[in-house]
Amino acid sequence: MPYILGIETSCDETAAAVVARGGEVLSSVVASQVPVHGKYGGVVPELASREHLRAIVPVVREAMEEAHASWADLSAVAATAGPGLVGSLLVGLTFAKGICAVRRLPLVGINHLEGHIHAVVLDARTSGDEIALPALALVASGGHTHLFLWSGGEQYRILGKTRDDAAGEAYDKVAKLLGFSYPGGPVLDKLAEYGDPGAVALPMAKMKGNALDFSFSGLKTAVLRWVQSRHMEAEIAGRRELLRRKPNPALEDWLKVTPQATLDVIAAFQSVVVEELLKRVGRAAEETGARSVIIAGGVACNAGLRRAARGGRLSIPAYFPTPHLSTDNAAMIAAAAWPRFERGEFDDLSLKAQANLALA
Ligand code: KG4
Ligand code: ZN
Repeated sequence: MPYILGIETSCDETAAAVVARGGEVLSSVVASQVPVHGKYGGVVPELASREHLRAIVPVVREAMEEAHASWADLSAVAATAGPGLVGSLLVGLTFAKGICAVRRLPLVGINHLEGHIHAVVLDARTSGDEIALPALALVASGGHTHLFLWSGGEQYRILGKTRDDAAGEAYDKVAKLLGFSYPGGPVLDKLAEYGDPGAVALPMAKMKGNALDFSFSGLKTAVLRWVQSRHMEAEIAGRRELLRRKPNPALEDWLKVTPQATLDVIAAFQSVVVEELLKRVGRAAEETGARSVIIAGGVACNAGLRRAARGGRLSIPAYFPTPHLSTDNAAMIAAAAWPRFERGEFDDLSLKAQANLALA
């Protein structure tokens, strides 16, 4: 049975996975660097590449062991070639090339965004769902907010993308300015449940030109202005103090240091992000006649987004990855490589890591 080893190191997770026939995940190992970058409130590129160098050998070894696979069982190695931090990409891609050279295996370079989309395809295959094509594909993560029209195979058309911050980046920045931990998405998502989104008015983006482009920096600035108008220094210092005492606070700990007004602004922020994303998905569905939508990337974990997308806000079915396949992982990279492996389309060992690699 053809096994593909996938390797992903585009940002701050070192990940390796073994996937059989593009659909059966035999192992998926993710070493997160969150504790390293957490205190800076975002990813520090130099630290990320150093951590990837440390983690790559044990992570690949663990993925192979968990899958009970030997090098001889592999049919190909797939690695993320971009987009991402170039120093980080280089670690995984070079390691993959090394395995390919020594074991005489074909290399498949994968676009990280295509990987995120294939996380959903992989899940759908496992659950027997048929994703109707053409499909919209919204990839919303810490680094990207891109909306594509996917007609199957490698036919992607870009419909819109963010002009400033990515959706996940907006979560991370708002969390940082309010004194919460990094990454901001998971904690703000949980706290949003306790707030009233109608209690604070935050603006939607006004777009000139392509109405399917996104913008989140105005929303982030609006939250900053709200904070500045309220003398919240002591409250924010309280949360930073909590983080110093307890690097991984539980929801109850956060709730103790977060008054209702702040929970309300978090809920309002989340509802605007969800609306900004789904408004464009709805409009794109009307304009293109897309029959379904794939929502992928770290922000696809968001409970409010899932609820709204599945609860009648959209007229087409929405597919999300299971949470462990939403954030960066290598199973999605190995799965994305499968169609290309079947067609025998391989990359040369001179393949370069590209920080801005485009999908369409
Ligand atoms: O896909 P991912 O793991 O890495 C990138 O390619 O960027 O996405 C990480 C991003 C972070 O910005 C994080 O705050 C966000 O996804 N995220 C969320 C949630 N879980 C993770 N954003 C909103 N709600 C969540 N539940
Ligand atoms: Zn990602």
